[in-house]
Formats: sequence, C-alpha cells, structure tokens
Amino acid sequence: MDDGGYGNYDFIVVSNRLPVDRVADDDDGEGWRRSPGGLVTALAPVMSSSDGAWVGWHGAPDENVEPFEHEDTFLVPVPLSEEEVEFYYEGFSNATLWPLYHDVIAPPEFHRTWWDSYQAVNRRFAEATAGIAAQGATVWVQDYQLQLVPRLLRQMRPDLLIGFFNHIPFPPVEIFAQLPWRRQVVEGLLGADLVGFQRASDTGNFLRAVRRFTGNNTRQQHVELREDGVRRECRADTFPISIDVARIDELARRPDVLERSRQIRDEVGNRKILLGVDRLDYTKGIGHRIKAYGELLDDGKLQVEDAVLIQVASPSRERVESYRLLRDEIEAAVGRINGTFDTMGSTAVRYLHHSYPTEEMVALYLAADVMLVTALRDGMNLVAKEYVAARTGADGALVLSEFTGASDHLRQAVLVNPHDIDGLKERILQAIAMPKAEAGRRMRAMRRQVLQNDVEHWSQTFLRALRSERG
Ligand code: G6P
Repeated sequence: MDDGGYGNYDFIVVSNRLPVDRVADDDDGEGWRRSPGGLVTALAPVMSSSDGAWVGWHGAPDENVEPFEHEDTFLVPVPLSEEEVEFYYEGFSNATLWPLYHDVIAPPEFHRTWWDSYQAVNRRFAEATAGIAAQGATVWVQDYQLQLVPRLLRQMRPDLLIGFFNHIPFPPVEIFAQLPWRRQVVEGLLGADLVGFQRASDTGNFLRAVRRFTGNNTRQQHVELREDGVRRECRADTFPISIDVARIDELARRPDVLERSRQIRDEVGNRKILLGVDRLDYTKGIGHRIKAYGELLDDGKLQVEDAVLIQVASPSRERVESYRLLRDEIEAAVGRINGTFDTMGSTAVRYLHHSYPTEEMVALYLAADVMLVTALRDGMNLVAKEYVAARTGADGALVLSEFTGASDHLRQAVLVNPHDIDGLKERILQAIAMPKAEAGRRMRAMRRQVLQNDVEHWSQTFLRALRSERG
C-alpha cells in the first residue's frame, strides 16, 4: 500500500479464474503455469508495461493462497468455500445465468441461496480489487460470473476507471426478464464506465434491459446516470473477441505439429475427416451434429469407409446436473451410431472426452477436411477462428452456425441453422464436396478477417475506448 491508503497497481484484470493452473514442479513441490487461452496472451504486454495485477479464484475450494508474482503479473487469489463453489459458481453462474443467457436451451434455475452467494462472492472480488488498485487505476472485469463487481467497486473506489466485458451473449429482454434479480444485475453492470459485448445484438439487448428495468435514460449507446446528485455516463459497445493468431500460426507451421497431423490422418485411413471441438456443453449443438452425421450414414449419402467424425468434447462443469445429463445423451448417441455403422477397420465417430494441449488441437485442425461448429448459441466461438488461423494452406471448409458471434465476421463459411437437421446434412455434404478453388477463395477471405483482428487488437481497442471515457 502507498501512503494514500491505495494499492500500487494501475492496471487490474478481474476474472472468475486466475490465468494460471497449478502444476507439480521439479522439486516435488507445486508451481503455477500460465493457462492456455487468448485473454492471458493478449494482456501480457499491458501487464508488463504497467504495474499489472490479476484478481481471481485459483481453482481449489476452502484454501487461502497468498498473492504472488508470476510472469510480470501480481496474482491475487480470491478464496471460495466449498459451498460457494456450489452456489456461486456451479449454481448461480452456471445453472442460472449460463442457460438464461444462452436462449434457455436448458431451463435456468432460480434459487435465492445461490443469489445470496453470488452477491457475497462478487463483493469479495470487489474488495480484493479495491485493496490493491492505485489511485485512478484502470480495472477490467471479465464475464457473467462478476456482473455485480463494477458497481460495488465504484462505491468503494470512485476514482477508478472501470471496464466490463461480457464473453457470452446478453439475452433478449423478454428472456432476461425472467431473472428475479434483473434490476440488480443491470445496475451492477452500470457501475462500469464502459460495458463491452461480443455482438451488436448483445449491446442492443443490454440497452433495452437498462431502459426496461432501471429508471435511466439512454442516448444511443450512452446511459445517463445520476448518483448522489452527480451525473455520470456508462457506455455500452461491441468488441468481438478473437484468438492469439500468431501462436496458432506458429504451431501450424512447426514440424512436430505437422508430423502429428499426418499421423492422425494415417490413423483414420484414407477418409474425409469431419471435426468437432467443443467443451461438452449443451449450447454447442453436439447432439444436432451427431444426429445429422448419423442420418447421412443411414441414408447411404456417406459411407463409414469414406468419412469419420472426430468429436473432441472436453470435460466441463461436471457437477452441474444438465452437464451430466448431456454427457449421457451424447455418449448414448455415439454408441448407437458406432454400434450400427462401425466395421472392424473403421469407426464412424471417434469420440474423445479429453482436454488436449493446443499443439494437439492444431494438429487436428490441420488434419480435418471439414470443421463443424454447430452451436445453438455462442457468444463468439473461438474454435471457428482457430480452425481458420491454422489453415495456413488456405484449404479446408468450415460449417458454421448462424447462432455464433463468429458468424458475424466469417461470412464465407458454410453458414447453417443447426436446428434444421436436413439443412445441416446438406451443408455437411456441400462442405465435403466443395471444389478446391471455391474452398480456397472462401478460406482466404476468412483468413484475412481473422489475421487482421487478433486478440491483441481486441484488448487494445477495448482499453482505448475505456480510456477515452475519462476524456
Ligand atoms: C466460457 C465462459 C468463460 C469460462 C469458460 C469455461 O468461455 O465465457 O468465462 O471460463 O466458458 O468455463 P468454466 O466454467 O470451466 O470456467
């Protein structure tokens, strides 16, 4: 702390999870390793060029970990009890907000005990941040788990410049209206100077929610606020996130990754590879994709000797009931298709319930003839952008759901409504049979889009807009 009673850090990121994973180190002790993911990479330069800190949960319940320095960043672990993991994280964040914000694909549950826990944990994050922020520091709060932090932080520290970015969709007002605490959530967000969303439709939905559930006026993208007689503004705007393009590009050219990709192709034989890569989440439309593929086999439009669907489904939120049910459903569907169509030598669906390092993912992207992204709702979908970034030869086809943020930008993908199973089947066949020249034209256009808009561009654009709010 410096003598003004403030902390020392002038740029602070706040997110549910810290950007590190615990790993065993060489001397049988424990250390921390930077977790994969674009956000960490995008912010690394900002972190080291300023006095940067990151506030977040370190991933284990009922454990206090002292703040520590890691790769130029001061990390401040926020403790969560076992009950808070259940109520705040699995409950309110992932069984209330997540389904509500994703078109109620699964029914959201509303429990007052979960809401109480969400408020308590959001306050703890705000306090941890207020305690380390230098006077006038910039704070960037991430995602739906922490929507109350901007307002709480502003009450504690009105000197701070506060940004918020929502990585998932913001729902239409008719759906958002179901939330018993809708006003408190909107007011929580309005504590920020700038609230960012993935798509223009999310920004519009948020502004409509502001007008409907708070007494504040909006003027285009500005919300006019009056707090204790003081006038203030909060701006809402659209900042589509992207990926660490340079990292994917580098991996896609590395000899060991190229060799691994050839090995994958050899292992499945001389067949077209269709690829799905998702967290095992009901928003991803994995079941729709498997159904369409199974019907194509059934109709005789595809033969198991000619094509394989590789589906990577990384384990996710396994203690939340809807995720457990989904796993059973997907595994039953895969079992049925394989039982019906497998031969001794070829399997119809290669289902992999694992997480893999980025190297292996890029090898898969390189091996795949067709990438299938069939999400029913997705804030952005970074897998689609990674596939495009990995295709350094400008070939391969991307089947992409209209319900992803990525479809706003990747217009040359084979766009699809995944609810329309016949349409999905046609698009899959179209992608498989796409002439080389057409695939190349489409991929080159998508590559231009992705290469010009990487995640660093995203973070810089957001932070520039945030700083301009201070005017
Ligand atoms: C989405 C959310 C992130 C979240 C991630 C993984 O991308 O926007 O905030 O971290 O899913 O989910 P998990 O529950 O494992 O953090």
